[in-house]
Amino acid sequence: MASTDVRLLTEPPAQVSTDLLVVPVFDGEPVVEGLSWIESGTNGEAGRAIASGEMRGRLYEFFVTPGSGGAFKPVRVALAGAGKAADFDSERLRKVATASALLARGRKIPRVAFMLRGPIGGADGVQAVTEGLVLAGFSVDQYKTGERFGPAATELSVIAPPHDAGARSALEKAVERGQILGESSNLARAFANEPSNLLTPRVFADRAVEIARASGVAVEILDEGEIARLGMGLLLGVARGSVEPPRVIVLRHDPPRAPKTPVLGLVGKGITFDTGGISIKPAEGMERMKDDMAGGAAVVCAMRAISLLQAPIRVVGIVPATENMPGGRAMKPGDVLTSASGKTVGVINTDAEGRLILGDGLWYAQQMGATHLVDVATLTGACVVGLGKVATGLFGRPDGWRNTVQAVAQKAGDRCWPMPLYDEYFDQIRSEIADMVNSGGRAGGACTAAIFLKEFAGGLPWAHLDIAGTAWADEGKPFQPKGPIGIAVRTLAELPFTYEQW
Ligand code: BES
Ligand code: MN
Ligand code: ZN
Repeated sequence: MASTDVRLLTEPPAQVSTDLLVVPVFDGEPVVEGLSWIESGTNGEAGRAIASGEMRGRLYEFFVTPGSGGAFKPVRVALAGAGKAADFDSERLRKVATASALLARGRKIPRVAFMLRGPIGGADGVQAVTEGLVLAGFSVDQYKTGERFGPAATELSVIAPPHDAGARSALEKAVERGQILGESSNLARAFANEPSNLLTPRVFADRAVEIARASGVAVEILDEGEIARLGMGLLLGVARGSVEPPRVIVLRHDPPRAPKTPVLGLVGKGITFDTGGISIKPAEGMERMKDDMAGGAAVVCAMRAISLLQAPIRVVGIVPATENMPGGRAMKPGDVLTSASGKTVGVINTDAEGRLILGDGLWYAQQMGATHLVDVATLTGACVVGLGKVATGLFGRPDGWRNTVQAVAQKAGDRCWPMPLYDEYFDQIRSEIADMVNSGGRAGGACTAAIFLKEFAGGLPWAHLDIAGTAWADEGKPFQPKGPIGIAVRTLAELPFTYEQW
């Protein structure tokens, strides 16, 4: 997946030769007053559209007009609605940039230059715009042989205000950072978009190895034999129903001068298809369960970014990968499984498979030396009921660790909302025969799943991101086509850079 490199420009926008100069406009802002060149550059069209109310600056509203030619180099100018200036943040900036580049793609406009202006500037602004522009390069229609959505841009630029030119090297770094994070997000989206016949656990592992090798991440794949030797009975239990063998993807970022601790452990759910197993899911919508490895993809792709960005601490990434199928040897409701940690689980619903494989994954992250844990999983429909598709469910403790993850996620554009871990939730997963059961029933389904995972976190600082509602867009938006979102990649990748505050 080659993506276009974003260029950093600091010259006056009127002198940038591009097919589409994008100028963010805030709601109710008399933009032309501050930007004198825009009036002549658009033959008065920009000012006219704003004065007449044709262009108001509402979020994702666009007004496109030809450039005047002559000394004015841009072929077209797009005023890009950025909403109210008071509500503007890096998340909105990223989304406006994506929407602009997607608009250009749809119109087959090859060169786009985005002018940075407004409350978010400097390196943060440059990074957010770069990420946004790169994110627009993702295509969902990989397997179409006929006409596909417009080609990705041939030239992408971010224009920083001239007073930032002195800080050129910081801005160059921000472009590089945004590029890596945007590309890594797109790689995770490509994984989640793959159908399960083409992305089996073995193929997932092979591709993870390729990505790791290309980005300097140490990688090891545990096959079914090693998984059995380690005693990962929860993962093996889920894998029993499938003819495809399970894998565990083990990734390590070990910078030479890193402190011994902390070690961040990232664990991602890697179910390449979730039929529900013997507790089989209804047919309607089941095809969506090909993305049940979105958490695992986020971990693999975040590890890529962590290595390329040279994160200062050690990080391990663990992705247990398997199908959840109802084959003749499948686990059955009532079965008891023994985890690698020694805890036993009564399986009362084979569709609650994510927490099973994550239990062994969290244990293995600790074996690899993790001192701080984050897991990411398309875990529960209940989380989608609770928060809808607008926020990831965030669980964890202590509160400080959970708050750290939330703050990093907010800035990265992966909004999450804190959910409780009351001890009483454990009452719903008590078992008569084993240490716990794997389903707490309908009430508080996201919370009982989280309390199950907590049993495998070994008392370490741990956060759990339930991305069941946020991994996939059911509807297209100006900034996000229908399909995989690449949720949590940037959050996981940015987290190690905040370690001094842990
Ligand atoms: N992968 C699903 C969760 C899911 C549902 C993700 C909808 C995305 C959209 C998970 O494995 C699952 O089946 N969870 C069950 C748990 C229940 C059986 C306790 C669920 O949410 O119904
Ligand atoms: Mn399931
Ligand atoms: Zn699942």
